Amino acid sequence: MKKFDFANKKLMTPGPVPIPQEIKDIFIQYDCHHRTKEFTEVLTSVFNNLKKLFQTEQHCYLLASTGTGAMEASFVNTIKTSDSVLFINSGKFGERWGKLASAYKIKNTSIDFEWGKNIDLNRVREHLKTKKYQALAFQACETSTGASLPVKELCALAQEFDVLSLVDGITALGAVNLPMDEWGIDVLLGGSQKAFMLPTGMSFLSLSKKAEEIKSDLPKFYFDLKAEKKSNLEQQTRWSTPTHFILGLSLVLENILQKKGLQKHFAEIEDKAQYFRKSVKLPLFPETSCSSLTCLKIPEGKSASQIKKDVLKEGFVIMAGQDQLADKVLRIGHMGDISKEDLLNTAQAINKHI
Ligand SMILES: Cc1ncc(COP(=O)(O)O)c(C=O)c1O
Repeated sequence: MKKFDFANKKLMTPGPVPIPQEIKDIFIQYDCHHRTKEFTEVLTSVFNNLKKLFQTEQHCYLLASTGTGAMEASFVNTIKTSDSVLFINSGKFGERWGKLASAYKIKNTSIDFEWGKNIDLNRVREHLKTKKYQALAFQACETSTGASLPVKELCALAQEFDVLSLVDGITALGAVNLPMDEWGIDVLLGGSQKAFMLPTGMSFLSLSKKAEEIKSDLPKFYFDLKAEKKSNLEQQTRWSTPTHFILGLSLVLENILQKKGLQKHFAEIEDKAQYFRKSVKLPLFPETSCSSLTCLKIPEGKSASQIKKDVLKEGFVIMAGQDQLADKVLRIGHMGDISKEDLLNTAQAINKHI
């Protein structure tokens, strides 16, 4: 059999993340068909457990697309052609809400923040006062800067102005506490290759009652969530189910929710993040970091991409920055199958090359 070189490198990136061995094993263990009684039982338990992870009473959707597909699905089901959307642009993924809106010719306004700086809630409030927006879209964690956004406060602001909150939790959901119902989040998204510890290729989303009642006139076919929910209520997915992902997901959810406990799981990720940050000799880039990843500022005159290459030679895959931060920051993930030893070794490899 052909051998690939991946085995000698530890993936320390903020997604995709290393997949636990038992999850890898379940991917290759069975041949199964999605329209069978046995599989339906797995699917039912996944739907139930997803609600616990999203901390919602609402239905959770499974999408056979990467996270951007979940952004698009949430958008085309909750936004109408006559609507205006406000979005927070504090990094590469914030920008994407604007590109998505423009692709559907939806009027959109960005509130730009310097990358890595805290979100000034007063500026958001001032924008919300100026005109009627349908939605306020933002990230829970801006993966390009490692910043954590004030989700609870932003959702409270959205509610005050009767605006939907669209929260891209792709690098946050399952890693940090995002109690959807308690905080009044209207749309919450997650991605398989992040805290869900699965390969890239699936995404998850839930809509509040208010968001689910909206009848959007934007074009959609594959991502028609009303049709999808109808199938889900019959314990089916509308299209072919990515069965192996679902088997993996059922185990991940059981491990997090039943074996460990959600809050303990979040605390473990936070503890790993703190441990890594204490071990590495570089300052943090964002003013408020998310525990899913650490984004480090590189000293003047040094190149992040060179350090990344040097660290790779030591066996650790880490990421440099994107766009304006391309050579200025390093990003290291804390989700998935990584130990404190992996974190310490990665920190030491970085320390050696700065
Ligand atoms: C915050 C955030 N949003 C959206 C995406 C896009 O997800 P995908 O690349 O899975 O389509 C990513 C990917 O890393 C992300 O980190």
